[in-house]
Amino acid sequence: MVSAFAAPEERDAEASVRPKRLEEFVGQPRVREQLELLLHSAMRRGTPPDHILLSGSPGLGKTTLAMIVAAELGTGLRLTSGPAIERAGDLAAVLTSLGPGDVLFIDEIHRIARPAEELLYSAMEDFRVDVVVGKGPGATAIPLDVEPFTLVGATTRAGLLTGPMRDRFGFTGHMDFYEPAELHRVLTRSAGILGIPITPEGAAEIAGRSRGTPRIANRLLRRVRDYAEVRGAGVVDVDAARAALAVYDVDALGLDRLDRAVLKALVENFSGGPVGLSTLAIAVGEQPDTVAEVCEPFLLRVGLLARTPRGRVATVHAWHHLGRTPPPVAGLQNDLFSLDT
Ligand SMILES: Nc1ncnc2c1ncn2[C@@H]1O[C@H](COP(=O)(O)OP(=O)(O)OP(=O)(O)O)[C@@H](O)[C@H]1O
Ligand SMILES: [Mg+2]
Repeated sequence: MVSAFAAPEERDAEASVRPKRLEEFVGQPRVREQLELLLHSAMRRGTPPDHILLSGSPGLGKTTLAMIVAAELGTGLRLTSGPAIERAGDLAAVLTSLGPGDVLFIDEIHRIARPAEELLYSAMEDFRVDVVVGKGPGATAIPLDVEPFTLVGATTRAGLLTGPMRDRFGFTGHMDFYEPAELHRVLTRSAGILGIPITPEGAAEIAGRSRGTPRIANRLLRRVRDYAEVRGAGVVDVDAARAALAVYDVDALGLDRLDRAVLKALVENFSGGPVGLSTLAIAVGEQPDTVAEVCEPFLLRVGLLARTPRGRVATVHAWHHLGRTPPPVAGLQNDLFSLDT
């Protein structure tokens, strides 16, 4: 049934602009080339390719690439996520239902429960799993065969994956934030698919304020379109983009509310830091994971925040961005501490 409300329309819009094949996938030239070699050589040999790990911030295209892997190989695709696999039995059921050569996509693979993770090891390596039936001395392990498959794992926190898990992937693709020129291409492509009139300057304005993230670029495109339809001539141009982004609280660097809250807390509550992640998260009323996975990578990337052994530090650039004068010591701090990750 089709609802009259906006959410399904937004979901449809996201699905319709999602690239379906590798050649439509914009940017990430390294990962794209590496994947192309991996997939094409496997197809020549007629065997499923090695397991693939994709790491990167939210909205950079990990799920999109996983779907592309299955589309390029012409195989079936099963989608699940780490938090959804609570027991080893859940995973065994998924694994034993795979067809030959299928792609199994596990999103947020770093959140998988430990017993399920151990079961996954043997499935990845030997294409078999031992399912334990019963408890205590009467428990027996029933070995089950799994069809040769390719696991595609996605994670926003590669650092949280266990060593044995990381070792079982034959290829890791590191997804980086996109350059404005790449986002410009994403926007032009999406506008074409959605039938939104857009000028190159309008696209450039949105591209520069999308936090290096295609999902955000596509979302801002729809918001600017709304604005242009209601208050403008229906064309996404630079004036519509500037006015709409002001309405939606997206600043010149593309920082959103949470990004700015983190910077403000750092500067105003903790005199620029250093401060620990959990203290900072409490100050902005968010989970530490959200701050670490959603906010920090971009703030680090644009040089507004630095990670030091003693905690997070606001850079001089951050003070200026908030319209404040940094204390003399802030510059010193940034020089003193090496940037660890
Ligand atoms: N390279 C790209 N070219 C064009 N559009 C892209 C590209 N990468 C992502 N997108 C768009 O961005 C949206 C988000 O991508 P996707 O869902 O794959 O991100 P993700 O990395 O899986 O995010 P999350 O970590 O939140 O699950 C998609 O709907 C797609 O339309
Ligand atoms: Mg995803």
